[in-house]
Amino acid sequence: MAPIARVPAALPPSSLSVFREDIFKGKVLFCTGGGSGICREMTEAILRHGANATIVGRNVERLTNAAKGLSEATGQTVIYAQADVREPKLLQDAVAKTIEKFGRIDFVICGAAGNFLAPIEGLSENAFKSVISIDVLGTYNTVKATLPYVRESRGSYIHVSATLHYQGSPLQAHVSAAKAGIDALSNVIAVEEGPRGVRSNVIAPGAIAGTEGMDRLAPPGATDMSSKISLQRMGEKADIANAAVFLFSEAANYITGQAIAVDGGEIHSRAVYHPYPDAVLGGFQSKL
Ligand code: COA
Repeated sequence: MAPIARVPAALPPSSLSVFREDIFKGKVLFCTGGGSGICREMTEAILRHGANATIVGRNVERLTNAAKGLSEATGQTVIYAQADVREPKLLQDAVAKTIEKFGRIDFVICGAAGNFLAPIEGLSENAFKSVISIDVLGTYNTVKATLPYVRESRGSYIHVSATLHYQGSPLQAHVSAAKAGIDALSNVIAVEEGPRGVRSNVIAPGAIAGTEGMDRLAPPGATDMSSKISLQRMGEKADIANAAVFLFSEAANYITGQAIAVDGGEIHSRAVYHPYPDAVLGGFQSKL
């Protein structure tokens, strides 16, 4: 039987065509890693729905450009704070700057992360510790610094994790351990803070096109992984941004302690035994 043509999922719509423009009016977002990539895109989407934001990162030039660009694109107020999330004091200062400017924090995206490919054999103690420090301690430090304000606003956390630690991913011992730690932290926050009205969820992006993650982590030459993905296309940064808008919105008021993979179903299709996607498109079936 001739194989049936693949039907890639539609590209993500703007969240403005799904959610009201003013759903985050008066709200304030605090986003680590917001100067670039997925976290910048998430920030822009939240701003488009009326929030103001502080973006946090290490590179001042990048932060300056991002704050200006985000503000111009959305008409909202965006400030930046230079901080390495491994330094609790710098995060406390970034939070103080946010409170001074906006008076509140409603939403927090813990997005700052470090990654590179290396087998355990090629991973020094300091290399392992660096990624654990940025991802796990960085998330802890961000939560610790923001929690009093998020409690006050009955706000919400989103942690940017991954799907690679759902199975043994070679060359990713450091990141797998770090992302598993982040997922666990989010679950504890959900349980400890739920009774105070605070929610905490994880977004686990799959293979997202045009990101530093893809540049750094994809196998050499593998720029298009769409045939391995259930929905037959690579993720877009807007897919992650749309998930963030949903999770911060009131539509998600009863969702906490979840890790939501935004990966086109790739965690379910990446390790299938039969040739993929030919087996499902080509009428593959056992004889009766
Ligand atoms: N393979 C093996 N070890 C590596 C490495 C690689 N590709 N890249 C860095 N390291 C090691 C360094 O050699 C160092 O270990 P050593 O002191 O034993 O030599 C250790 O990691 C720390 O590196 P350093 O550059 O000093 O740390 P940093 O804090 O400035 O940078 C990283 C942190 C290593 C995570 C860096 O990749 C980074 O800044 N990443 C941010 C951007 C990013 O990864 N975003 C995520 C996209 S998915």
